[in-house]
Amino acid sequence: MKILNIGSMNLDMVYQMDHIVQPGETEASYGMNVFLGGKGINQSVAAAQAGATVFHGGMIGEDGQPFLDACVKYNVDARYIRQVEGKSGHAIIQIDKNAQNCILLFGGANQMLTEAYVDEVLEGFEAGDILLLQNEVNMLPYIVDKAYEKGMQIALNPSPFNEKLDAVDMKKISIFLLNEVEGFQLTGEKETDAIIAKLRELFPHARIMLTLGKDGAVYVDEKQQVFQPIFKVKAVDTTAAGDTFTGYFLAGLCEGMPIPDVLKMSAKASSIAVSRPGAVPSIPWRAEVEQALAE
Ligand code: RIB
Repeated sequence: MKILNIGSMNLDMVYQMDHIVQPGETEASYGMNVFLGGKGINQSVAAAQAGATVFHGGMIGEDGQPFLDACVKYNVDARYIRQVEGKSGHAIIQIDKNAQNCILLFGGANQMLTEAYVDEVLEGFEAGDILLLQNEVNMLPYIVDKAYEKGMQIALNPSPFNEKLDAVDMKKISIFLLNEVEGFQLTGEKETDAIIAKLRELFPHARIMLTLGKDGAVYVDEKQQVFQPIFKVKAVDTTAAGDTFTGYFLAGLCEGMPIPDVLKMSAKASSIAVSRPGAVPSIPWRAEVEQALAE
């Protein structure tokens, strides 16, 4: 089984701050780095580092060569990535002294997908393959409709959650990967149990992977509900923690691992990512995750 991820690639400009800047305030940062990121490529790299066969699709601008280099380095198949005129997407990320972040996005090339491009990419995939999506590229409703027609399993991380998702036919989603805030935005429910109950009512056949921050994660499908606590670490940068969890989770599903093992592996990988700066460079390889689990 293959994973196709049509997703964002962002140059993350990351600023270390005492606190996140408030409206009207000017605040000096005490460090700045540029990392490769974007929810799309973060999740592709994580799934590939976990051992899955991953194809990444999407657009980069004239400054996007580092993403192609990263795909080589992390075993992500980049044949569907296209370079267009203009700038790649970017993100301005502030990290405060408690490792909390806030993210400002510029879509750039991520917003330049076309129907013809989507059709061309989907031609390489078949029923049963997994299509992974986040909400940082354009054309989501079209991609979902076309992939569903082909019988692909569609995994959606509805992040960032905004009105563009209203046009997506959520009944076509097989796997929801979301956090509690997105769970609230999708269901109107605030409590974990209520979010799960509502998601089950709305999408009775879907698999639901709900992450709960420091409170762990819950997986639910038609047959089982499994809880996974976090592995506690000193957080340095939480950027891409959720993306790491998502990539590892899908890789575990592709392998047919029992869900409790998938969750444990994903939580461990995510905890390692949190202990390192940056998005893509913070994501661990499978061997490191397994060694950490064995310790
Ligand atoms: O999920 C983290 C990612 O969100 C960052 O890498 C940033 O680029 C934004 O897409």
